[in-house]
Amino acid sequence: MQFDEFAAFEKNGWEHVVQQYEDYFGRLTVQSHPAMLDALEVGPGTRMLDVAAGPGYLAAAAIERGATAAAIDFSASMIAHARQLHPEVEFQIAGAEHLPFDAESFDAVGISFGMLHFPEPERALEEAARVLRQGGRVAFTAWAPPERAVGFGMVLDAVQLHGKLDVGLPPSPPFFRFSDPDECLRVLTEAGFTAARADEVEQTWHLVLPETPLDGLMHGGVRMAALLRAQSKSALAQIEQEVRMRVKAYSQQGAQHAQFGELLVPMPCVLASATKP
Ligand SMILES: C[S@@+](CC[C@H](N)C(=O)[O-])C[C@H]1O[C@@H](n2cnc3c(N)ncnc32)[C@H](O)[C@@H]1O
Repeated sequence: MQFDEFAAFEKNGWEHVVQQYEDYFGRLTVQSHPAMLDALEVGPGTRMLDVAAGPGYLAAAAIERGATAAAIDFSASMIAHARQLHPEVEFQIAGAEHLPFDAESFDAVGISFGMLHFPEPERALEEAARVLRQGGRVAFTAWAPPERAVGFGMVLDAVQLHGKLDVGLPPSPPFFRFSDPDECLRVLTEAGFTAARADEVEQTWHLVLPETPLDGLMHGGVRMAALLRAQSKSALAQIEQEVRMRVKAYSQQGAQHAQFGELLVPMPCVLASATKP
């Protein structure tokens, strides 16, 4: 596989950020789940699979709509945590590229913020197609480009200004590949799906100063965290200062929030979906 080293790096990373992921991203990625469940046409009786489920929020939301849900993630510690949070979901430890399910066993497959982490996203879509019944729906989300997902934008700009982007991380697929709706449509169509569409969905990162998006990216994920941890101490201090300055534009001026330093940072995503013919 082209990205073997990256695959091992991601797997090891996700084993160690379970609680931090939930703390920083737990209330963010769920904001696009209603739109994803709509795109998947999840309702009473739907059999849904949540791929790269993390703490299992999407599967749990599907069950709230009257569906039944299975969920996989390759991180054993993520799955252990998810099982505690959502005992109603059937969790398994598995890779998105080798789903432990029979062909045509689901009506819907959702991949919420997983595709950008996969070494072989095309293979994951092939697997989604295999386990879907005819007429079944697939959907995935990925962050919008950093100009609009400004939590990423301000941190990456700050790294570019004061630090280094090339820090010797394992070669990986581009982080923002699926921020391009055309690329989403292309990859879905190439995987044999029809009626593909891709739309941006609004999400807002609620943070409270002194925490900024830098803290979220440095502690709550894997690839961006490694990029930030690889900066020199002095560069990181400058990056921190730069982000602290930029984040002011997103602080809430209302009297109610000002004293708490509440930030509302736009973090939209692209939601792509299609049908198995
Ligand atoms: C950004 S989190 C998304 C979690 C959740 N779906 C959400 O929307 O918040 C990415 C998740 O993908 C999992 N993951 C990454 N690569 C994977 C792969 N190749 N196969 C299965 N899970 C993977 C990680 O362990 C992590 O839990």
